[in-house]
Amino acid sequence: MSRVVYVNGDYLPEGEAKISIFDRGFLMADGVYEVTTVIDGKLIDFDGHFNRLERSLNELDIVNPMDREEWLDVHRQLAAQNAVEQGMIYLQVTRGAPGDRDFIFPDPETTTPTVVLFTQSNPALVDSPKAKKGIKVVTIDDIRWGRRDIKTVQLLYPSMGKMMAIKQGADDAWMVQDGAVTEGTSNNAYIIKDGRIVTRALSNDILHGITRAAVLRFAREAQMPVEERSFTVEEAKSADEAFVTSASTFVMPVVQIDGVTLGEGVPGPMALRLREIYIEESRKAAI
Ligand code: PDD
Repeated sequence: MSRVVYVNGDYLPEGEAKISIFDRGFLMADGVYEVTTVIDGKLIDFDGHFNRLERSLNELDIVNPMDREEWLDVHRQLAAQNAVEQGMIYLQVTRGAPGDRDFIFPDPETTTPTVVLFTQSNPALVDSPKAKKGIKVVTIDDIRWGRRDIKTVQLLYPSMGKMMAIKQGADDAWMVQDGAVTEGTSNNAYIIKDGRIVTRALSNDILHGITRAAVLRFAREAQMPVEERSFTVEEAKSADEAFVTSASTFVMPVVQIDGVTLGEGVPGPMALRLREIYIEESRKAAI
């Protein structure tokens, strides 16, 4: 069945949606995005995603084309029109489509941002078979740019990283800078040693995950100690447990790093507990 998508103010069947070949998102990856989870037809952490969208746009001098209520309305309408019970809503805002290709930013008075949203259903999101087994990761050099805190659509290297992992029989890659793990290709990375959760502190080196913020809050509320600091690949390989977080995976246990099995090679109890708490609490707070 064809989806209804949103393009610059219109709700259209996906086959009728069009954007310009001059769009700077297409030509220069000059755009930002958000991925918001839908559970029970409702939005998880909408305000976290809206606030980060505003921040990303602000960092790139793109004017936010809609206010919170308008964004919320489009998200809700798309979820409803496509009958999404479990899945996600993808949104992208680019600097728009000036007439010519030019490295100079176009005048915002004459070039308005392009706004695109679409839905993806995933009935196995909560009851994920992968979360029951845990995933394997390999480490790769983090050669992305220096503003990873801005959620831009420059996703070629993360996409290549995922393919490098798959070629090695793993599920995903953790990126490493100066010997320390930054984050996963599309998620934040954590290890657990002696009951302490360790994850890299917020900076321009990583995306400030909305799921990360929620999971750390729930962990602290459940009296699980949290250390926000860098950790090395060696430290990760000798951890008791590991996991990643993102809007599309929630808390996903990691059972192997560069071929080294963690613990018993099955999802650890703290990661599984955090996944449970995250899903339960997020469900309650969904709007
Ligand atoms: N990715 N780090 C990176 C590099 C990411 O791309 C993501 C999200 C995260 C986690 O952020 P959040 O918890 O706000 O989803 C961390 C999304 C899901 C994606 O690109 O599909």
